[in-house]
Amino acid sequence: MSEWWKTAVVYQIYPRSFADADGDGIGDLPGITARLDHLAALGVDVLWLSPIYPSPQDDAGYDISDYQDVDPTFGSLADLDRLLFELHARGMKLVMDLVVNHTSDEHPWFAESRSGRASAKRDWYWWRPPRAGMREGDPGAEPTNWRSAFSGPAWELDPASGEYYLHIFSRKQPDLNWENPEVREAVYAMMRWWLDRGVDGFRMDVINFISKDPALPDAHDTGALFSGSEHYICGPRIHEFLAEMHREVLAGRDGLLTVGEMPGVTLEEARLFTDPARRELDMVFQFEHVQLDQGASKWELRPLQLTDLKASLGRWQAGLAEVGWNSLYWGNHDQPRAVSRFADDGEHRVRAAKMLATVLHMHRGTPYVYQGEELGMTNAPFAGVEDLRDIESLNHYAEAVAAGEDPEHVLASLRAMGRDNARTPMQWDGSPHAGFTTGTPWLGVNPNHVEINAEAARADPGSVFHHYRRLIELRHTLPVVAHGDFTMRMAHDERVYAFTRRLGDVELLVLGNFSGDPVVAKVPEVERWRAAELLVGDPGDDPLVLGPWEGRVLRA
Ligand code: GLC
Repeated sequence: MSEWWKTAVVYQIYPRSFADADGDGIGDLPGITARLDHLAALGVDVLWLSPIYPSPQDDAGYDISDYQDVDPTFGSLADLDRLLFELHARGMKLVMDLVVNHTSDEHPWFAESRSGRASAKRDWYWWRPPRAGMREGDPGAEPTNWRSAFSGPAWELDPASGEYYLHIFSRKQPDLNWENPEVREAVYAMMRWWLDRGVDGFRMDVINFISKDPALPDAHDTGALFSGSEHYICGPRIHEFLAEMHREVLAGRDGLLTVGEMPGVTLEEARLFTDPARRELDMVFQFEHVQLDQGASKWELRPLQLTDLKASLGRWQAGLAEVGWNSLYWGNHDQPRAVSRFADDGEHRVRAAKMLATVLHMHRGTPYVYQGEELGMTNAPFAGVEDLRDIESLNHYAEAVAAGEDPEHVLASLRAMGRDNARTPMQWDGSPHAGFTTGTPWLGVNPNHVEINAEAARADPGSVFHHYRRLIELRHTLPVVAHGDFTMRMAHDERVYAFTRRLGDVELLVLGNFSGDPVVAKVPEVERWRAAELLVGDPGDDPLVLGPWEGRVLRA
């Protein structure tokens, strides 16, 4: 029971964009509950729900003003209980998003903290006077030179008290001070409340940011997106805090899943976080493989080298083989659509989406499917900045253009990397708003929903959807998929992603062509693999010859 998630597949729902039951143009909990058959048909084990809590929606719900309720836009606590009940009735679990690096500035904790320097909750957040020798409000008077992940300084002045508060994300997302034991106890009590309600675990938002160096030194490099992050990524007390959280909240409860979102986490740190003996987390989301096509900031686009991707994921496979566990993902609500980013969303879209899925799901670890990925949904054709909604993109655009960058150039990077790509409404059918809403969608539906939609995919046995179904079934039924060892093959090939998995005397060869040309996979033991059984993919004349963007799994 304890490591049940090793054979599980998680499906992520971004509630704003999944299904709208009340016609206000924004997805909601009743909408999700009405669509659970889609998840059941896919065969996933767990639903991870992005935030549904009351929120001013400055960062689309990742700015929470009440941890123990549901935002009326999404429904009510009763709707949540209903969703939980319906999931459990289908044998699925529910993992909630836990956003406790920061709250909303409209959370009562922050309102009290801000009420004055003498407030009992003043120390629940990071308040600091202006830089020594400077006056509050002067340019550069911020207590440190850190930059917010959403552009601009990471400090906001509170004119009433003359002090600044820290916000690594938007100014409406003040960072909680985890040094204060009352903060930690309040968070743990909230987590226990959710578990007592029946939820099955947490995906922990930027959880490796919660321990800051209390001296708050200046950043070495002010150019980077997360400048200053060397003072809060996996900070001095991070392991202590997570071990304490485990003791106080998770210990003694069975069947849970915990996954920590950890930008900038190293493999060495990840091994510590996920070593079962240390009792911290089950797995982490690392970011290495989704930064290989970026420069110093996510807006600097670089072509992806397949050899870099293989080297990175291969290192994580090896590094967490004996101790710890990997989570596996191509996309989520913060990343562009995988098929557009890593493969081909044009002529070969269906094949390419299947190949990406094959390669990912055959790795060792727990795969995460982001809503719409199972349909091969693509990036959106945003015409201009007026089509975008995400605070990260809008702030970056304003800042970059004000600094003199060419607006078209900025837009090009937003089109490639912007988070709204992942947030366009789920494409259920070919009707005008894709079956997502009867109202006006909060973010434009991708016009390609006429062709790419769940109804069409479920009716077509050759669809991306049915391919995901097959991969998920393999993880459930073939022990080598969940538990086998992993060996990268052809590590220096620029077009073929190849690896083997072995458990006992069963061996799998997994092949993916990351190019638009036919390729021959030059693996060792050619004759053995030519004679092997085809488990996944189209037969073709020779199993080691792959068509454009084609993937295959062979069993010997
Ligand atoms: C995480 C979330 C992202 C959010 C940020 C701040 O990275 O996934 O959507 O903007 O944290 O909460």
